[in-house]
Amino acid sequence: MTFVVEPSGQACGATIRGLDLAAGFDDKIIADIRAAWLEHRVLAFVEQSMDDDALERFTLAMGGFGEDPFFAPIEGRSHIAAIRREADEKAPLFAENWHSDWTFLPRPPAGTCLLSIEIPPMGGDTLFADQIRAFAALPDERKDHLRSLTAIHSAKLAYAPDGTYGEKDVAAGRSMDIRPDETANRTQTHPLVRTHPETGDEALFSTLGYIIGIEGMDQSEAIALLSELAQWQTRDEFIYRHRWEADMLVMWDNRAVLHKATGGYEGYRRELHRTTIAATP
Ligand code: SIN
Repeated sequence: MTFVVEPSGQACGATIRGLDLAAGFDDKIIADIRAAWLEHRVLAFVEQSMDDDALERFTLAMGGFGEDPFFAPIEGRSHIAAIRREADEKAPLFAENWHSDWTFLPRPPAGTCLLSIEIPPMGGDTLFADQIRAFAALPDERKDHLRSLTAIHSAKLAYAPDGTYGEKDVAAGRSMDIRPDETANRTQTHPLVRTHPETGDEALFSTLGYIIGIEGMDQSEAIALLSELAQWQTRDEFIYRHRWEADMLVMWDNRAVLHKATGGYEGYRRELHRTTIAATP
């Protein structure tokens, strides 16, 4: 079994053709997929006929399930969440801010898988920003300064009871099953520049939203730095725009990219099933 890797021609991302992941895979295929993933950061597997069992098998083979706070899993599963928006939904779009998944955890997930369940005829693209490229393109002096900084991460702006996806949002009837709670107020530090555990590349890790400050830095100075950095992190030259198709599985590397959802599909339903891949030991 071999497969074709078709680079997107953008900052990162590649399409994978010629694989039927539901039919099974061996260790060699998984090693080849991992190599392609580490090189391209985002892989889109086309023409997949995967169900939730197949999604779980693939996630386990890529490193096992990560921890998924604040999302209730779909019925009958412990590790699959639905990223869902009904055709007539009025709640603000979910995940429209740039982020890397769950960076407020002590061990954030290495990757995330999203399997298309229902894809609207237009819009709903997912954008990715390559943070290895973004860091590499900085001047040396700036790199040294950023390497010296430790970021303070928290889920509080999003998932605390008074956060974006907090009690008011739940009461407003969002179709996704989000469960805000007080644990979102916890904080966790990570270096602002992280060395990728598998490739050794340095990447800017996360952005404003899940980063709420910088250790030892005045808050207004930290927010100014993070805001300026966020502009840099998401410049056009670092972006891959992913267009969804039916029967598609996408897997991205949270250690290397930021991502965000986009709208443009008003009046249509969109649903994807999501798993996270555990941090590399
Ligand atoms: C996510 O951030 O997990 C969702 C991305 C999307 O809906 O495109």
